[in-house]
Amino acid sequence: MATQLFEGKEHASYYQKYRFAPPQELQDMIFSYLQERLNKPYKLAVDVGCGTGQSTRILAPHFEKVLGTDISEAQIEEAKKANTFQNITFSACPAEKVPVDDASVDLLTACTAVHWFEIDTFLKEVDRVLKNRGCLALFSYVPHMEIHYKDRSEQMNKVVSEVENLLNKYQHEKVYHVRTGYKDIFDTIPYTDKIRRDEIIIKAPMPLSEYIGLIQTFSMFQIYLGLEPEKAKDFIKTTEQRFLEIMEVSSTETEVELWFRYVLVLASKPK
Ligand SMILES: C[S@@+](CC[C@H](N)C(=O)[O-])C[C@H]1O[C@@H](n2cnc3c(N)ncnc32)[C@H](O)[C@@H]1O
Repeated sequence: MATQLFEGKEHASYYQKYRFAPPQELQDMIFSYLQERLNKPYKLAVDVGCGTGQSTRILAPHFEKVLGTDISEAQIEEAKKANTFQNITFSACPAEKVPVDDASVDLLTACTAVHWFEIDTFLKEVDRVLKNRGCLALFSYVPHMEIHYKDRSEQMNKVVSEVENLLNKYQHEKVYHVRTGYKDIFDTIPYTDKIRRDEIIIKAPMPLSEYIGLIQTFSMFQIYLGLEPEKAKDFIKTTEQRFLEIMEVSSTETEVELWFRYVLVLASKPK
C-alpha cells in the first residue's frame, strides 16, 4: 500500500516553496560514482518519488532526458508548473512501476523517498530498468537538525529538540529507515558494488522562515495537522515566536545556519 501523506495540494505547494535541492557535495558524490562506472554521454535518468521536482532538476544538465515520477498527482502538478527544462518530463506513477524500457536507465535516484516504497518490488523494478553498470542513488536528510545563530545556538537548539520530540510522536513507522541510515535497504540491494554513507553533514544558511516552512513539509507535521489542526497551527506560530525572542529580532527573514545530516546509498548493477 502506498503511503498517502503527500497528496494534499496545499502540502504540495509547501513542498515547492520550502524543499531545497540536494546539496552540491552530495550531487558531486553521485555523479563521480556514476562516471567511474559508465561513460558519457548519458541518455536517461529517472528520479522516483520526485515530489515537486527539486531533486529532478539537478539531473537535467547531465542527461539527454530526465523523467521525474511521483505517486501523488498534486506533487506532479506542482513539479510541471515549476519546470523550466526542455529535457525533463514528469509523470504520476508508482516507483514500483516505472514507465521506461528494460535496461534503458543510466541513473535512478530517490531523494527522501525510498523509505515510502515497497522496497522488494521497487528493487526488482530498479534491476529491470537499469543498464548494465547503471547506478542507483538513494539519499535523504535525517530528521534531526541543528540551528546556529550567533552566540544563541544552545537556546535555539533546545527549541529544536522540543520541536523534534513533539513531532516524533507523529512519526510514521517508515521513517525508521531514515533514522537507521537506510541500513536495511542497503542490505537488501542485491548488488555487490554498493556503498553507504550516513555522516554527511551539510551547513546551509537560510532565513528562519525557511526552517519554519521546512518543518511544515515533514510527514510528521502533516500527520499532526491532520489529527489536531488548530494545535498544529498554534505550534508553528509559538515555535516561530520562541525563536524570534531568543534571537532578539522581529523578522523571520533573519538568517540562521541550519546543520543537517544526509544518508547516501549508491549501488551499481553488474555487467
Ligand atoms: C519526502 S517526499 C520527497 C520529494 C522529493 N524527492 C524531494 O526531495 O523534495 C517523498 C515523495 O515520495 C512520494 N511517494 C511515496 N510513495 C511513493 C511510491 N510508492 N511511488 C512513487 N512516489 C512515492 C510522495 O508522494 C512524495 O512526493
